Amino acid sequence: MFSRITGTGSYLPEKILTNHDLEKMVDTTDQWILERTGIQKRHIAENQTTSELAEVAALNALEMAGKSANDVDLIIFATTTPDLIFPSSACLLQKRLGINNGAAAFDIQAVCTGFVYALATADKFIRSGSHQCALVIGAETLSNIVDWSDRGTCVLFGDGAGAVVLEASEEAGILSTHIHADGTFEDLLKVNAGVSSNYERLKAGEAFIQMRGNEVFRMAVKTLGRIVDETLAANNLQKTDIDWLVPHQANIRIINATAKKLKMSLDNVVITVDQHGNTSGASIPLALDTAVRDGRIQRGDTLLLEGFGGGFTWGSALVKF
Ligand code: ACO
Repeated sequence: MFSRITGTGSYLPEKILTNHDLEKMVDTTDQWILERTGIQKRHIAENQTTSELAEVAALNALEMAGKSANDVDLIIFATTTPDLIFPSSACLLQKRLGINNGAAAFDIQAVCTGFVYALATADKFIRSGSHQCALVIGAETLSNIVDWSDRGTCVLFGDGAGAVVLEASEEAGILSTHIHADGTFEDLLKVNAGVSSNYERLKAGEAFIQMRGNEVFRMAVKTLGRIVDETLAANNLQKTDIDWLVPHQANIRIINATAKKLKMSLDNVVITVDQHGNTSGASIPLALDTAVRDGRIQRGDTLLLEGFGGGFTWGSALVKF
């Protein structure tokens, strides 16, 4: 028994913040942002919660899969920016979608690797036979935890949502998943407040992403290279067997480095970071949906999904689409 992606969906909020807009907010330039990150613009949720963004992405994915909401028996929602401390965003989404069949619903927090963690978890549930139809979500409203006066971080992040429907299938789908973490790197990338730590800052609306960008960059390139090797070796595959790389969309230079490691032409790499910046847990399903809907990714293609993020966390999924 396999789990197989039968539908993809995504959503970006309407408001767009361009590099030129940012030039008016902090000491930066369009040229600096483009050269260092590849980002041209990002989308910002205004009066929309993370589960609202996810709802649109989920409906699009369900429509492509030809499923109704109550066919879903498992919702796994990757987010670092949940609507509330509780209920989980998965439960809030369940309510929004009108799912009243008692489907299991929970959140996963692995920052930018969240979607890969969620996909890996859903795959294991389905392979075990306990569940048949999962909605796997990555959605974020990171703009709420960005310090808009810090040019080192505010140019990087954006809001958005992506979703897949994962169904039990005898046909090969998810071939393998690989997830890892190392909590000793806490200080390189974190939000500086939470419920049981620096709560005053959270209450004051001063809980912000803090990042030592250069060090994160180097770790990301090194670690993503290793996960590519691990994934290929586990499946006894060569680099040339991969049709599409669907990477976490953090920085074009990190993506280029991973493509180089795979000796892969950028023509076979899905790149959307220019259009929406780093949307953390949402970025991989956003990129996947983009390339499925524009016809680049076809049924039967072999995809390598990979991500790296706060924690540090990192992971990959090898997928027969
Ligand atoms: N505009 C203009 N100058 C800037 C800006 C900006 N927006 N931001 C920083 N600078 C300056 C710095 O102050 C520094 O100036 P100095 O030399 O006078 O001190 C100079 O530019 C170079 O700064 P670096 O930090 O060394 O620049 P770098 O080339 O490393 O690029 C960046 C910074 C884009 C953040 C890069 O390090 C990066 O992408 N890091 C990885 C981020 C990432 O991938 N995160 C993934 C996970 S995210 C998550 O999990 C939530």
